Amino acid sequence: MPTTILLDCDPGHDDAIALFLAAGNPDIDLVAVTTVAGNQTLEKVTRNALAVATVAGLRDVPIAAGCDRPLVRTPETAVETHGESGLDGPVLPAPRLIADPRHGVDVIIDTARSHAPGEITLVATGALTNLALAVRLAPDIVDRVHEVVLMGGGTAGGNWTAAAEFNILIDPESAHIVFTAGWTVVMVGLDATHQALATPDVVERIAAVGTAPARFVVELLDFFGRSYLETQGFPHPPVHDPVAVARVIDAAIVPAERVPLTVELTGTHTLGMTLADRRGPAPADCRTFAATGVDTDRFWGLVVDALERIGDPV
Ligand code: BDR
Ligand code: CA
Repeated sequence: MPTTILLDCDPGHDDAIALFLAAGNPDIDLVAVTTVAGNQTLEKVTRNALAVATVAGLRDVPIAAGCDRPLVRTPETAVETHGESGLDGPVLPAPRLIADPRHGVDVIIDTARSHAPGEITLVATGALTNLALAVRLAPDIVDRVHEVVLMGGGTAGGNWTAAAEFNILIDPESAHIVFTAGWTVVMVGLDATHQALATPDVVERIAAVGTAPARFVVELLDFFGRSYLETQGFPHPPVHDPVAVARVIDAAIVPAERVPLTVELTGTHTLGMTLADRRGPAPADCRTFAATGVDTDRFWGLVVDALERIGDPV
């Protein structure tokens, strides 16, 4: 049985690849996509989600715009990494889909309530604003969601500050709400995603698929590679967000440790840090997990396989 997921995202180059993986993998049933301001404005990331869904041949999956800013903080984008459009590089096709008129937060609540308890997994690859509002508005969804798998955080430092990762830093209050809601949270953070590097060999494997969606991904990686080199000095870019989807597909590819996690909300230098408490074994009621690494060969194998299955539908 495939795992039913809702993907909450801010495309974003790596979010786009997460969408391709979710769309093409046979063990995932993608039932809804929601967007959140982050890498770019809500308007831009929603347009990008619709364009990527068009390239991936998704036709019947609702795509709804969610929150246009963090709960408390001043909005911050990642224009240095993802460009003015949020998805600079490839030419974006005119979307063949239109956005669902519902608010993304309502789509999260409706989707959780319309599935049997334990059936739906929420995958988040942007700031956690939509999930935080959903769980505040409808606390009953905690018991309906199988688990929340999110790309964000890390236990050994950040990428946007020395302590904090972008998705957590830009809306730490929402992250706190999500981490403490009482559902299972799997944090797929930098400890894992900084291993998921798009090396030239990986780019060649994707290019060899030879389809329009694969070419689109190669163009995404070309821009992403250049921006990661310029902004963070990575010779090959870490492709964060699809690692969260890979965790849902096969937990063995992205192993995780059970460990209490706290989001720093007041630190002068550590705002948005995700602190792992490794003093002794985790308490039996601990429901937070932190990814420890990724089997890169199998991970990229999943991405290539998903693109092969998607074929050429633009
Ligand atoms: C995260 O930040 C965003 O820029 C990426 O899309 C990813 O979700 C990595 O820190
Ligand atoms: Ca993202």
